[in-house]
Parts: sequence; structure tokens; C-alpha cells
Amino acid sequence: MSIKNEFSKHANEYNNHNIIQQIIAKSLIRELKNKPKKILELGCGSGQIFNHINWPIDFYKAIDFSAEMCELHPKHSNIEVKCFDFDTKEFLNEIKDDSYDLVLSSSSLQWSKNLDKIIKNLSFITKEINAVLFTSNTFKSIQNITNTKSPILCESEIKKAFSHYYTCEFETIMYKLEFENKKDLFNYIKNSGVSGGSKILDFKNAKKLYKEYKLNYLEFEVIFVKTVSKV
Ligand SMILES: C[S@@+](CC[C@H](N)C(=O)[O-])C[C@H]1O[C@@H](n2cnc3c(N)ncnc32)[C@H](O)[C@@H]1O
Repeated sequence: MSIKNEFSKHANEYNNHNIIQQIIAKSLIRELKNKPKKILELGCGSGQIFNHINWPIDFYKAIDFSAEMCELHPKHSNIEVKCFDFDTKEFLNEIKDDSYDLVLSSSSLQWSKNLDKIIKNLSFITKEINAVLFTSNTFKSIQNITNTKSPILCESEIKKAFSHYYTCEFETIMYKLEFENKKDLFNYIKNSGVSGGSKILDFKNAKKLYKEYKLNYLEFEVIFVKTVSKV
């Protein structure tokens, strides 16, 4: 396991609010050792992960609980896009008779209400999982000022759930996204939707935060998980 700090470029060089998601989605695919043919993806969104897959595949099942996202995902005869909540019985039922070369997930599983259960069920249908999750240390300094707790899973909960069923390699990275001014930084939190930013920014806390936040960057902590073998 290693912990890295990575300073990304100035956020305002990018014309969007999900630059960290884009960076980690790309890394996730770049890190793959081989080119699997049968893939399941959890929390597929509009297809950022799928769009990085540049080798021929036999079958791709993409899951997301947002119908709008499923609508946007690329479609093809060998792609099944299905609208399921990965925390539900219906989802587990959907995948129980499947088998995959690889399960992928990027920026999504940190929201799970029962990650252990998902990983347990994945262990019946795949030998390999490559995933990247945000951790509760995302927006850490903001949480400290506003005295709020992150709504997403912490690093140790994530490691525990995966390690229960697989021997894994973990890599935790803190990205620091710099801004030229406070206004841009606060706009980014509002629009990024990574980890409860909008909840943090109620009127009272927003005022306190604006006054007390002295950093010129936002913190995003992610953990890359690569399974090595089943336990
Ligand atoms: C930040 S987006 C990431 C999308 C895509 N994987 C990417 O890297 O661009 C998180 C996605 O996870 C989905 N998601 C969150 N919780 C979910 C759940 N419980 N079941 C299924 N999808 C979920 C959201 O709808 C959203 O599309």
C-alpha cells in the first residue's frame, strides 16, 4: 500500500466540474494488466469508463441507478445497460448467474450502504475487480471547519470489505486541485457533487467556510483497488 499526494493542474484550466473523476477513470483503465472480454461495470454513469475501452470485447454489462445516466451510456448489441441500485436484492439477483473476466467501478462504490455484501456477491462471479473509490477524506479540511462528517465510506471500511473476499493491492492518492480564487473554488464544490458538498454549504456553514477556508486547493482522496486473488 502507498499513500501519494498529487497536485493536479489549476482547475480553471478545465471547463468542467468532474476533472478528478476523469483523471481516475483514465488511470483505472490504463492500469489494467490484460484486455478482458467480459466486463461488468457498477455505477457506469454516462459511459466514461466504457469510452476508454479500446479493445474488442464480447459483452459489457453497465449498471447505474440513474435512468438519465443509463440513457446517456453508449449502446450496442453487446452492451447491456441496466438500471439497478447496486445495494439492492434485485441487483444481486440480476448478476447471480453471470460470470465475468473483470468487474470495474469508478467513483461510485463509495456510496454503497453495504460494500461488504456487494464484494461478497462479486466474488462468486469474478476473479478480478479493478475499482477506484473516493474516500471520506475528500473535502477533509471543509469537514473540519464546518464540523460535518463525510457521507461516504472511509479508507479502512473500503479496505476491510475488499480484503474479506480478495487479496488486494491498494493505493491511496490525495489529489489537490488548485484554484486561482475563492469564488472558483466554492463554485467547484457546489457543482462537483462528489461528496455531499451541497449539504455542507447551507447558509450558516457556507459563511463560516468562506471566511475560514485558507487553502487555495480542494482535497480529493481516492483509493485504487486491484484484486490479486480470492482469499
Ligand atoms: C461520480 S459518477 C461516476 C460515473 C462513471 N463511473 C465515471 O467514472 O464517470 C457516480 C455514478 O454512480 C451512480 N450510483 C451511485 N450510487 C449508486 C447505486 N447505489 N447504485 C447504482 N448506481 C449508483 C450514480 O448514478 C452515478 O452515475
